[in-house]
Amino acid sequence: MQAVEYISGKLHIIDQTKLPLEEVEIITNDLERISLSIERLEVRGAPAIGVTAAYALAIAMQNSSIENRQSIFLEACSRLAKTRPTAVNLFYALDEMKKIFNENVSKENLPEILLSKAISIHDEDKNLCTLIARNGLEIFTKKSRVLTHCHTGALATGGNGTALNIIRNAFENGLIEHVYADETRPLFQGSRLTAWELDKLKIPFSFNTDSTAAVLMQQSKVDLVITGADRIAANGDTANKIGTYNLAVLCNYHKIPFYIAAPSTTIDKSCKSGDEIKIELRSNKELTQVRGIEITKDEYQAYSPAFDVTPNSLITAIITEKQVYKPAFNFNV
Ligand code: MRU
Repeated sequence: MQAVEYISGKLHIIDQTKLPLEEVEIITNDLERISLSIERLEVRGAPAIGVTAAYALAIAMQNSSIENRQSIFLEACSRLAKTRPTAVNLFYALDEMKKIFNENVSKENLPEILLSKAISIHDEDKNLCTLIARNGLEIFTKKSRVLTHCHTGALATGGNGTALNIIRNAFENGLIEHVYADETRPLFQGSRLTAWELDKLKIPFSFNTDSTAAVLMQQSKVDLVITGADRIAANGDTANKIGTYNLAVLCNYHKIPFYIAAPSTTIDKSCKSGDEIKIELRSNKELTQVRGIEITKDEYQAYSPAFDVTPNSLITAIITEKQVYKPAFNFNV
C-alpha cells in the first residue's frame, strides 16, 4: 500500500478522504491538482506530504525549457509551501529539492535529476520507517494494550509508517494484545484509516470517540500511548493532530507512558520550543458538516486547529530512526 506513487510522468495518489468505503486513485501531473490534494487531505500525514511535494516539483519541471525553469520552479515551491503550514516534512522536502535545483539549474537533464532526488526522498522515508519500527520495540516490556491517535501508518508516510509501524512490528513479535484507535475528530483519520490498516494487518483493535480515551485509562485498559508528530521543536515539544495533548495530560494523570514516534526529518531545530510552531487552522465546514451533510448551522463559528502542541515534560520518550530519545531530548546525539 503506497500513499503516492510516481508512474510514467504522473503521480498516483490514493484518495484518503474516501477510505475505507471507497478505494479511489487520483492520477495527475498537474501541480495545482497535487497542491489541492494536499490541502484537502487526499494525501496527508507529515512524511507523505513531503514525498508528494518532492514529486510535484519534479513533475512541474518535466516540460520546462531552460529559459523558464527558474520561474516555474519558484512558483511551484511557493504554491506547495502554502498548502499546509505545520508538517515540517513538507518544508524539508522543498529545501532538499531547491538545493538540487540550484546545483543543476543549467543542466539539460535537470528534470531527470530532480526526479531522482524525489525518488531518493521517498526511499529515504521508507528506510526511516523501518528503523523507527525496529527502535520502537524497546518500549515494550510485556504484551501490551496500546492506544493511538490519528493515523501514522503506511498511507501517512513513504514507507510502512511511524507509530503504527512500531505497533505492527510489536504485533509480529507477540507484544500487542489490543490497539485502541481514537476516531480522531473532525476528519476521522483513526476510525477510517488506522482502522483500515489495522484490519488489513489483522491486528486486534477497536475504535473509540476521542473523549473515551479517559475512561479506557480509568478502567486500566491502556498500557501505553504512541502517536506520530508533524513537527518536533529542538526541546522536544511536539505538534501532532489535535487531541494529542489531551492524551498526554491523561497519561500523566494515570501514570501511563506517552510516546512520540517520528523520523528525524520531523525535528525542526530552528524552532526552539513549541511556541514557535505554526498551527494550521481548518475551515468551519469541517466541523459543521460530515461528508457534506450539515450537522449544525454553517453560520455558527467553529474553532478548528488541526494540531496541538504537547509540552516535552509530558513525553516519556521520542522514538526516531536513530534512537529512543529520553528527556531532556538532546537530538544532537
Ligand atoms: O492532518 P493530518 O491527517 O495530516 O495529520 C496527521 C498527523 O497528525 C500524524 O500524526 C502525523 O502527520 C504523523 S504521520 C506519520
